[in-house]
Amino acid sequence: MHNIRKITDDLYYVGASDRRLALFENVYPIPRGVSYNSYVLLDEKTVLLDTADSAVGQQFFENVAAALAGRILDYLVVNHMEPDHCALIEDLVLRYPAVKIVTNAKAATMIRQFFTFDLDSRLQTVKEGDTLCTGRHTLTFVMAPMVHWPEAMVTYDTTDKVLFSADAFGTFGALNGNIYADEVDFDRDWLDDARRYLVNIVGKYGMQVQAVLKKAATLDIQMICPLHGPIWRQDLGYFIGKYDLWSRYEAEERGVMIAYGSIYGHTAAAAECLASLLAERGVRNIAMYDVSHTDVSYLVSEAFCYSHIVLASSTYNNGIFTPMENLLLDLKAHNLQNRTVAIIENGTWAPVSGKLMRAIIDEMKNMTVIKQTMTLKSAMKEDQSETLSAMAEAIVASL
Ligand code: FEO
Repeated sequence: MHNIRKITDDLYYVGASDRRLALFENVYPIPRGVSYNSYVLLDEKTVLLDTADSAVGQQFFENVAAALAGRILDYLVVNHMEPDHCALIEDLVLRYPAVKIVTNAKAATMIRQFFTFDLDSRLQTVKEGDTLCTGRHTLTFVMAPMVHWPEAMVTYDTTDKVLFSADAFGTFGALNGNIYADEVDFDRDWLDDARRYLVNIVGKYGMQVQAVLKKAATLDIQMICPLHGPIWRQDLGYFIGKYDLWSRYEAEERGVMIAYGSIYGHTAAAAECLASLLAERGVRNIAMYDVSHTDVSYLVSEAFCYSHIVLASSTYNNGIFTPMENLLLDLKAHNLQNRTVAIIENGTWAPVSGKLMRAIIDEMKNMTVIKQTMTLKSAMKEDQSETLSAMAEAIVASL
């Protein structure tokens, strides 16, 4: 049974959601599932904008057939070649053998790498600014390298002012019937997953996201149709503003994220004391995580959200406790910048985690390390409470 939604008189949502997949890209937990969006434009010529993940293939093909309602498919626009959107291209070609594939040269190379069907006889290569007139609509192609792969592009319908934005402006989370951001409470229910999606997937490529935002600013965009998550037709500036902050590595919230790596609970206890000291001093925006219990993708997302980060870690194998080291290396890999960091270390006989955490932070851009640090030898003692209070004061002073 098909399940499509009409967006405009000639544009249909033909994507589908997956709530069975545990790990997106086999690495990011998606407890709320994910949607693979795809769109059919019915003009004098018919156009499919991207396919979908093979997991939703059956639903996707029923949807495409329903939207086409017996018409042939003239064009497939390939905006992005990651298999969550390209997996069904060969199957599509078998079902719609007359289809022309419209994409850029880099994507064409990837199509040849992933598939074996005859691409060249149906390939229409486009580059920045090229257009495709389908009748009433004119589609313009805008390159978006590294958002999320080097071949990524976005397609702008100059007629109806719709931006098919590929991975940009996407989010984790299956669609629950409502396909528009204005049909859900996005800020309450979706924003955290949208941030986690963006910063984990393209956090490293903030400059490239900024480049796409600059190009988008030159277009009159009335609707954003991404490849994941809700479609935007109202209050576009809200979400574009979030993307701007995330890709400039600016904090969304003035507040403190405390992440601790603790083996028997003593490092955790010091982190809890610091949280109380911050709260006593009026800090109301504190997020606290045990790095052994929270998947690192959530921690990276929170680090992008908060202005201040406290890292408290045990020493392990004469190094940083493994999950904390993993977090720090992930933050560095994602290019996190412009944060204020405080450090607590612990070690029963040779505490070195503080020095080693500092060394990783020093390799990151524009990070300020609060000079009040704390060294625990096994467990925090009463006579160290002044040290911790000094750290809390320093954090509050810089908030
Ligand atoms: Fe949703 Fe980069 O693919």
